[in-house]
Amino acid sequence: MAPTLGVNIDHIATIRQARRTVEPEPIAAAVLAELGGADGITAHLREDRRHIQDRDVRLLRQTVRTHLNLEMAATDEMVAIALDIKPDYVTLVPEKREEVTTEGGLDIAGQIARIGEVVDKLQGAGIPVSLFIDAEPAQIEASQTVKAKFIELHTGQYAEAKDETTRKQELAFLAAGCEQAIKAGLRVNAGHGLTYWNIHPVASLPGMEELNIGHTIVSRAALVGMERAVREMKQAMRGEL
Ligand code: PXP
Repeated sequence: MAPTLGVNIDHIATIRQARRTVEPEPIAAAVLAELGGADGITAHLREDRRHIQDRDVRLLRQTVRTHLNLEMAATDEMVAIALDIKPDYVTLVPEKREEVTTEGGLDIAGQIARIGEVVDKLQGAGIPVSLFIDAEPAQIEASQTVKAKFIELHTGQYAEAKDETTRKQELAFLAAGCEQAIKAGLRVNAGHGLTYWNIHPVASLPGMEELNIGHTIVSRAALVGMERAVREMKQAMRGEL
């Protein structure tokens, strides 16, 4: 069975925050994504609130009709927000203020006690947890140790591979990780850097459940919508809209 699609709407909020204004509205984007067939909506509430805001997450909780995946760092502040909002699942990601986007998987093996505590708190409250990790055997074992329900395999290196040989190696690394995780009883998602051109081999990995995709979809939406948006502005200038 083909994996489901979680649409990440962070960059709709990025455009809004560029002007600190009210448009585009991420909630409207989520509704339209669902109309287009999205199986889930993903939003990353960052510590610095550079794109998604607290009110977005609260409104998404009330309006999303598919499922809401809240991406967040494993901090006390974010755990409290998640326990309050109760998304359908949480994806724990590493976060550095200075990074442009999430740069690598979370190190579970190096912080078993802390991640285990966060997983227990969230899953104890009925919120399944997914851990965003590189497809390394030790990270997958550690994810099993902390009893997370899901992992999300980091597809960044695959997406950024400069040549076909490297891309094939990265795909084989993801395939092996996917297989190891499923054998260990973990459910497997993947994401980061996936595009219309590189998605199919990852979507074809046996057992892959959900792909979380943002940048390429928002980029395409901006371009396929440009012609209509300009036409409508000309109508508005003529007082016809
Ligand atoms: N999954 C995780 C854990 C992420 O941090 C991101 C980026 O916010 C994505 C998926 C989506 O990546 P992209 O925007 O490159 O599709």
